Amino acid sequence: MTAKEVRQSFLDFFKSKDHKIVTSSPVVPYGDPTLLFTNAGMNQFKDVFLDIGTRDYKRAADTQKCIRVSGKHNDLEEVGVDTYHHTFFEMLGNWSFGDYYKEEAIAWAWELLTDVWKLPKDRLYATVFKTDDEAYEIWKKYIPEDRIQRFGEKDNFWEMGETGPCGPCSEIHFDRTPDKSGGKLVNAGTPDVIEIWNLVFIQYNRLPNGELEPLRSKHVDTGMGFERIVAVIQNKKSNYDTDVFSPIINQIEQLAGKKYPEDLANPVGIAMRVMADH
Ligand code: GLY
Repeated sequence: MTAKEVRQSFLDFFKSKDHKIVTSSPVVPYGDPTLLFTNAGMNQFKDVFLDIGTRDYKRAADTQKCIRVSGKHNDLEEVGVDTYHHTFFEMLGNWSFGDYYKEEAIAWAWELLTDVWKLPKDRLYATVFKTDDEAYEIWKKYIPEDRIQRFGEKDNFWEMGETGPCGPCSEIHFDRTPDKSGGKLVNAGTPDVIEIWNLVFIQYNRLPNGELEPLRSKHVDTGMGFERIVAVIQNKKSNYDTDVFSPIINQIEQLAGKKYPEDLANPVGIAMRVMADH
């Protein structure tokens, strides 16, 4: 599948589940002094989660342009040095505004990854927040228990910023080790096992004093790194080897008169990836 086909199949899948397909919001958010740049697909729905705004639909999906160079979500230092973080990227997301919850969010994520995109089930791991027995029990319907891991706030409690909508999350990780031995590498910060999708169960508002205020309704907010899932589907170890980035890398090679090096530690390659990302 080309990157374009992956993007379209994500949107088509959620359209078939009665989601309204919406457009990406601008990368500079309207009227939100808590954010410099849009850092997630859910930003444009913050008012709905906080019950101060409404939409004429209860389910939505889109591909959102995001910038993560400041604040709570800042990947600037990773870019170029590794092969799977970006300052500017697309986030595929689906949302429920007080409608479906964990059961459907997990079922549909599994269906898209394994039925539609045919990712090998024995390369997928799920993580849940340490106390989220509900998500753990749902995952048991799809994968063996030794592939479900519990983590704490740092990895499995998602917040958009210092304040705002937040909640426990369940991530899906893909194991790229040759012998499928990546269980211990989940959340270890290695390209061998990478997070591909984050399913957030929004149920709190983080207040400026740090307290968590329960929201009136429970919501779903998911985020999947488009460039990463394209790399996984195209069986590439690096996002820069996919058809999202290879035309840009080829152009940089021509302008620089240098070949893109295979060795990931080579500073020429790091510089080329930084330029391609930017
Ligand atoms: N809002 C979910 C995420 O950015 O991971």
